[in-house]
Amino acid sequence: MVEQPPVTIVSSFLYPNSVSKKGVPVNRRNFIKTSLAATVTAAGSGIIGHTLLFTSPANAQSNGGKKMKILVLTGSPRENGNSSILASNFIRGAEEAGHQVVRFDAASSDVHPCIACNSCGMDGPCVFQDDFEMVREHIIPADLVAFATPMYYFGISTQLKAVIDRFYAINGKIHVPKKAVLLMTYANNSRRDESPILTHYEVLLEYLGWTDAGRIVAPGVWPVGAINSTPFPEQAYQLGKQV
Ligand SMILES: Cc1cc2nc3c(=O)[nH]c(=O)nc-3n(C[C@H](O)[C@H](O)[C@H](O)COP(=O)(O)O)c2cc1C
Repeated sequence: MVEQPPVTIVSSFLYPNSVSKKGVPVNRRNFIKTSLAATVTAAGSGIIGHTLLFTSPANAQSNGGKKMKILVLTGSPRENGNSSILASNFIRGAEEAGHQVVRFDAASSDVHPCIACNSCGMDGPCVFQDDFEMVREHIIPADLVAFATPMYYFGISTQLKAVIDRFYAINGKIHVPKKAVLLMTYANNSRRDESPILTHYEVLLEYLGWTDAGRIVAPGVWPVGAINSTPFPEQAYQLGKQV
């Protein structure tokens, strides 16, 4: 284990009024109640396409001018959903700063959950030959890994968690210094609700020896695109430029 890295909070805990599409305040009690209708809406909006690759210009301005390889892992199944919007804005900023960015959308990819067979021995081939190969290819050389996720029942999404669990097979190769970013969205408005994801992120980084380069935690956003009326997309863009 390594010492816990210093933590940079870029724009957490700004709590805009939490208002649903119908203008009803969203709280923990009614988020479950409203979830079914919203899921139907999301299902009708289509599914994210396959993993998108982004290329970027030279001339990095951030990171002391050093051009970085960045891997962005997204976890929402909602096309143009709130965390996806944060990811896109982060990527735009990072590309403008000259970094090379690869985006992997876990929800539209085929990543089997780890089955604990231990065939990999925590540092070897996985029994599953699936889209995690793309993650493996890009995460090992990455200088920075960004995690973009909606809050699902106070944790990160299953889709993103499946990808993180598959780190098991490359554990020996990613225990090297990297930067990390967290982009997280949720409907409620509660620091306590945020704490499981924030703690998970912090402990994961501590374990891997990675350094937190910033977090965007966006409360009060439930429908697709609700985040567009908050300052968080701009903050994600600025974070991308400054990492
Ligand atoms: C299965 C599911 C579980 C959710 N759990 C929570 C939760 O525990 N707390 C919360 O505030 N919002 C919860 N939400 C709402 C989402 O976190 C919120 O809508 C978020 O902005 C979605 O991000 P996305 O648009 O990137 O998918 C949940 C939504 C779904 C579909």
